[in-house]
Amino acid sequence: MMPVMFPTPPVPAQRCAGMEACPDDAPGFAGVIAGEFVGEITPMHETRHIPVMVPEVLRSLEVKPGGVHIDANLGEGGHTEAILNASGPDGTVLGIDADAEAIASATDRLSGSPGFPGRLTTVNANFRDIRQVATENGLDSGSVDGVLFDLGLSSFQLDIEERGFSFRRPDPLDMRFDVRQTVTADDIVNRYSRDELADVIYQYGEERASRRIAAAIVAARPLQTATQLADVIASAMPRRGGSRRIHPATKTFQALRIAVNDELVALETGLEQAISLLKPGGRLAVIAYHSLEDRIVKNLFRREATDCICPPERPVCDCGHSASVRLVSRRVVKPSQAEIDGNPRSRSARLRAVERL
Ligand SMILES: C[S@@+](CC[C@H](N)C(=O)[O-])C[C@H]1O[C@@H](n2cnc3c(N)ncnc32)[C@H](O)[C@@H]1O
Repeated sequence: MMPVMFPTPPVPAQRCAGMEACPDDAPGFAGVIAGEFVGEITPMHETRHIPVMVPEVLRSLEVKPGGVHIDANLGEGGHTEAILNASGPDGTVLGIDADAEAIASATDRLSGSPGFPGRLTTVNANFRDIRQVATENGLDSGSVDGVLFDLGLSSFQLDIEERGFSFRRPDPLDMRFDVRQTVTADDIVNRYSRDELADVIYQYGEERASRRIAAAIVAARPLQTATQLADVIASAMPRRGGSRRIHPATKTFQALRIAVNDELVALETGLEQAISLLKPGGRLAVIAYHSLEDRIVKNLFRREATDCICPPERPVCDCGHSASVRLVSRRVVKPSQAEIDGNPRSRSARLRAVERL
């Protein structure tokens, strides 16, 4: 197996220890965006995305020379690069991302690596269509050695001002991964009824003050920028003494991002299709960054690793379901303290993996 190499050095040491631990005014807190910590924004806006749990991902996927892999969240290509190195000299990766700018950036960066020509294909698509994208690129059901999902958004996207993922800059309310899609955060913030808004904030942000926040947003409309929205949310939150553990807008921004991109439905659909693409013994690994994502992954993996999924009160099985995978490990894999110290964004990462039967 070839050594895993990362030509780009990690960003300088972070000054804030991650989403939950950052007070509002910590120097690195500007990196907390739409519910996730993605790294510190330097004065030059040169945030570099650091791939999370790379050795653990390679182990979970059991990457071998010649392997055929799909990276469903190409981003800046850090994991893809590691998989290409570990599957050399002739392993291949199909890299998918909903964001055309991420595709262009990763393709540009990785195509310059001497060992990669002809081994990487990149496609601008949503992973909810992973089976169709795979088939169109010559990968039929049952033909793939490994699929990786590394959910959420990258530091690269934080740098794109028009996207409105950060509540620290007066960017437009957008939050789309794929700018071809029509619904933006602006539509939800400025057009949803108060009850619809409250439901989004509660369901996708698990925000207890959802009704109060929704009422404040409706009263303050029209809102045009991420900072205006963050200020309205902060004004609606109960005042508390001492430093808050997270910015008051964190959960609402997470909720809006999930709603804009229909992230949870895409995840469930994408995972089901990804399992069908695996050959027997092939692996599916998923890194989730918040409990809503991780719950979907955990429940789907458990269900697919079980023969009968009838309700317990049913005396005789009639579901016809049979297990399609086995859990690689019963325990979720978390980053080491050393990784968290070097890359605070990794703090909330949770890795789960299954193997196709
Ligand atoms: C955490 S980043 C991936 C980082 C990547 N693993 C790396 O090492 O650079 C997540 C990426 O997934 C993309 N993404 C999010 N949801 C998606 C979806 N439903 N379909 C395709 N790409 C998606 C985002 O645009 C973002 O580039």
